[in-house]
Amino acid sequence: MMRWGERFRLTLFGTSHGPEVGVIVEGVPEGVPVDPSAVQSDLDRRRPIGRRLATRRQEPDRLVIDSGIVDGRTDGGPIRAHVANEDVQRAPYDRQRYVPRPGHADYPARMRFGDAADLSGGGIFSGRMTVGLVIAGGIARALWRDRPIDALAFPRSIGTVDAEVPEETPLAELRSRARSNEVGCPDAAAAKRMESAIVEARRAGDSLGGVIETRLTGAPVGLGEPFFDSIESAVSHLAFSIPAVKGVEFGAGFAGARGRGSGENDAFFWDGDRVTTRTNRSGGILGGLAVGTPIVVRLAVKPTSSIARPQESVDLRTHEPVRLVVAGRHDPCIVPRAVPVAEAVALIALTDLALRGGFLP
Ligand SMILES: Cc1cc2nc3c(=O)[nH]c(=O)nc-3n(C[C@H](O)[C@H](O)[C@H](O)COP(=O)(O)O)c2cc1C
Repeated sequence: MMRWGERFRLTLFGTSHGPEVGVIVEGVPEGVPVDPSAVQSDLDRRRPIGRRLATRRQEPDRLVIDSGIVDGRTDGGPIRAHVANEDVQRAPYDRQRYVPRPGHADYPARMRFGDAADLSGGGIFSGRMTVGLVIAGGIARALWRDRPIDALAFPRSIGTVDAEVPEETPLAELRSRARSNEVGCPDAAAAKRMESAIVEARRAGDSLGGVIETRLTGAPVGLGEPFFDSIESAVSHLAFSIPAVKGVEFGAGFAGARGRGSGENDAFFWDGDRVTTRTNRSGGILGGLAVGTPIVVRLAVKPTSSIARPQESVDLRTHEPVRLVVAGRHDPCIVPRAVPVAEAVALIALTDLALRGGFLP
């Protein structure tokens, strides 16, 4: 199922090594100004960030809007947008049809879809499919033009390197700090260590995972749809669609489960004429609804499965064991490239809920 959403609806299309990847977004009212250059700059942050730290596949990812936006405004119809796949090399993936890569989708996908599956470059299981999420995230952001919503994601950790990112630092400041390094981390010292760790892992023929934190401010109090479409449910549904995401937590998350109520409850107080909380252990969500404090979500991203070291696999035709050396071009760490995708899914989820709850026209 490549479709998601009730009011803000998206359908992903394309494959990693087909002619294009992209998205159709439905449910956007007419007359909304959409700045394609803002969407393009989100796409640019998802691109391989330099040969040292990313895949050697170099895609320009130039945004093409096929329909739904005319003279910078939505026309009320479905929005179709894509980028072309230009740097395609199918040959290295031929063997994967019969010798599945450990840690990748090859084996279950082949069992499910048989010979018909186009698994070249990962097919529809490729990280490339997240191009459509980033485009949809940019369109979702445009719907909030009269409300001060903002979302920023960054690597909270890569491998065993942790970043210190104080809760009280404004997103605008974190954003400008994050832009000063290749991994997009606002903690400059940690960013250096993260970069070295990625380079070292690649040299060792290996890969690293990490945790992406997203902070989203400006969500209206009460946003969220009880019972099954809590903010946590909607964000997690999309977040788990991002290839390589294996865990999602909100606020104090799993660490909070070790505490006590007295330490985990966020005390309320009046800040002028507005209610807010002293701490934000809830991650800005109570009862599935927005509290008005920053929504904080963390995604656990596993280490890239396609590594240069030989690995144990099987030949599905001959039933022989195989020592597999994975071919193709791969990211030694997915985290930096998935940062704009994490922002996009948070924005998409909240936009759908906002349209459903009447918070957006
Ligand atoms: C932006 C992005 C880039 C990715 N790049 C690669 C890659 O270069 N090589 C690879 O093996 N997996 C890559 N992945 C992850 C795989 O697509 C994913 O691990 C695989 O489909 C199996 O799904 P699962 O890990 O969610 O179980 C990437 C994921 C994302 C989000």
